[in-house]
Amino acid sequence: MNAKMPVGVLGATGAVGQKFIKLLEQHPWFEVTEVAASERTSGKLYGDAVSWKQITPIPESVRPLEVKPCKPELKCRIVFSGLDASVAGPIEEEFARAGYVVLSNSKNHRLDEDVPLVIPEVNPDHMGLIPIQRRNRNSTGYMVTNANCTTMFLAMALGPIHKAFTVEKVFMVSMQAVSGAGYPGVPSLDILGNVIPYIGGEEEKVEIETRKILGTFNGKTVDLAPFPVSAQCNRVAVEDGHTESVSIKLARKTSAGEIADLLRNFIGLPQQLQLPSAPENSYIIMEAQDRPQPRFDVNRAKGMATLVGRIRPCSIFDYKLTLMGHNTVRGAAGASILNAELLKAQGLLE
Ligand SMILES: NC(=O)c1ccc[n+]([C@@H]2O[C@H](COP(=O)([O-])OP(=O)(O)OC[C@H]3O[C@@H](n4cnc5c(N)ncnc54)[C@H](OP(=O)(O)O)[C@@H]3O)[C@@H](O)[C@H]2O)c1
Repeated sequence: MNAKMPVGVLGATGAVGQKFIKLLEQHPWFEVTEVAASERTSGKLYGDAVSWKQITPIPESVRPLEVKPCKPELKCRIVFSGLDASVAGPIEEEFARAGYVVLSNSKNHRLDEDVPLVIPEVNPDHMGLIPIQRRNRNSTGYMVTNANCTTMFLAMALGPIHKAFTVEKVFMVSMQAVSGAGYPGVPSLDILGNVIPYIGGEEEKVEIETRKILGTFNGKTVDLAPFPVSAQCNRVAVEDGHTESVSIKLARKTSAGEIADLLRNFIGLPQQLQLPSAPENSYIIMEAQDRPQPRFDVNRAKGMATLVGRIRPCSIFDYKLTLMGHNTVRGAAGASILNAELLKAQGLLE
């Protein structure tokens, strides 16, 4: 009999933590056996501690679990982290040093030289940093990170395009959902009927993380992709789903149709390995001129795909396109789970 692997969720009460609990409910390989959060909630039963905001009920198997402190004393080897960035850095490191495999959503370790920042469709080879990290930090445990929720859809779409046509410049304007700010997040009186043209630290994250993900693993570290990325990030009154208007300059000539075909026909490692959370198609090309739209499209492919629309010529760069994706699924918890599935398929969870 193949028993499921027990896993823990750090920051289990938060927006991303809840998404982990929801997405792992029926997971064929992993089972949530430990939940941990801050002093505010630890010691309580999960069902009492959490302000549950998912549209499905709290899984019955998780509801009675005691919320534990975020100390490396959990009875599992793998922990998914949805910890607040103000505390994630040292806690995740402590877990990795104690021998846990940590799959993190926080910004804190994404840019560490020996920590993989991975999108399985784009740079699975960056998992090659794991043995280096283990050696550097003298531990059997390690950390793997996934991209910021805005970086995710940009880097995911650019991956195949860069490989085929060599990206030279990127300009992106985002319209980001309120759920990206966690719970309770942005006060309703600040965002209702409004656009806030600033999200602290977001533009810097998108500009550097994209270059790390599309960078080259040289056997020791990752050389950043050489092209500049300019990002402008806005918070809009949308519940779930980040939309991105992107312009790209390419070194090799192509056409809008060729870019669409490249993404439409893409089959990556998640599909080849038939990872349980892999979407059938990682990129959904939307033909209608007014799509993708978050209200109608955010849950396509269970929130795990990047939706791509309006691929057309750009009068300043070469092409422009619209991207959209589910920020707490593919942009957060779903991305970590897919990374964990890749690790398992590659024998790195033994
Ligand atoms: N929301 C998104 O779309 C998104 C996307 C990608 C990445 N992220 C990143 O994911 C992380 C979590 O974001 P979120 O939106 O889920 O935030 P959130 O809703 O505010 O949740 C934060 C979690 O961290 C816990 N926590 C806070 N202080 C703690 C402490 N001192 N010790 C232990 N646990 C503590 C909270 O537990 P209590 O309930 O006990 O306070 C809660 O479980 C952040 O780093 C964020 O940048 C978020």
